[in-house]
Amino acid sequence: MGKDLKDKLKNFARSNENFTVLTGAGVSAESGIPTFRGAEGYWTIGSREYQPQEMATYSMFTQNPYEVWKWYLYRKNICEKADPNSGHVAVAEMEKLFKNRFTLITQNVDGLHIRAGNTTERTFQIHGNIFFMRCVNECTSKIFPLPEHLCGKEKDEDLTEEEKCLVRCPYCGSLTRPHVLWFDETYNETHYSYQSTLEVAGKTGLLLIVGTSGATNLPNQVATAVHHHKGIIIDINVEHNPCTQLALSGEKGYFIQQPSSTALPSILEIFKTCENR
Ligand code: APR
Repeated sequence: MGKDLKDKLKNFARSNENFTVLTGAGVSAESGIPTFRGAEGYWTIGSREYQPQEMATYSMFTQNPYEVWKWYLYRKNICEKADPNSGHVAVAEMEKLFKNRFTLITQNVDGLHIRAGNTTERTFQIHGNIFFMRCVNECTSKIFPLPEHLCGKEKDEDLTEEEKCLVRCPYCGSLTRPHVLWFDETYNETHYSYQSTLEVAGKTGLLLIVGTSGATNLPNQVATAVHHHKGIIIDINVEHNPCTQLALSGEKGYFIQQPSSTALPSILEIFKTCENR
């Protein structure tokens, strides 16, 4: 990391400006969770019968809910077996250092940031969380933790009749759906913190973009907003991507081509050297 970037980070830490971290699947790749568009990605491999992204649609769920539930319980199984890595841990430490100046916006539904110590108060899970479900008829806007006995599944392992009875709304008994944002759905504030995320972007002085290919709408709006008000943008990724171009097109943009498990702890160390944050 160059001296210029180190000085920028130290000066920022000593300012009173807001700090936002935006993460994607890349931050969990080193925890053994596939990304979406990488060589072994979910959208690249998908399932035996269906086009990958079909599985992540409301229309697919209405046609075949238990096929979609089967796929999400397969992904839940992978997330359960994963542990936060040093990248997640560093982001949790950054929240402790920067307190109410800090916000985490994550696209990941794996819950690893929360398990690493980030608080739900300062974390916007803008694509939902795979460990929760909600009423498909929206009799309530509450989200419910997945029932304990609804175990994760191996690939292509069907739900049992008992398990089909578990994906029911505790309030009205209707079917429940995974609490994740699907491709044929739109962001909202109730379930995905849409407005809150844009408000935070509007007040962000430093944005760390970590392990995302910039393929989805709201994260791109966040990065564009920070770019427009000339905030510092640092893109951390193992390869160039659209967020890199946006970052480097600004006066205060940087690209760190490193795994997030390496880059995030080193940025944390620099922040820790600054006494009066
Ligand atoms: N460290 C940093 N970056 C990494 C690492 C790593 N160890 N491993 C992979 N990456 C980068 C890849 O180069 C890629 O740019 O992470 C990015 C992952 O991109 P995607 O697979 O497209 O995942 P993401 O950007 O999170 O997808 C966004 O799209 O499919 C929807 O809802 C889904 O939340 C997801 C959203």
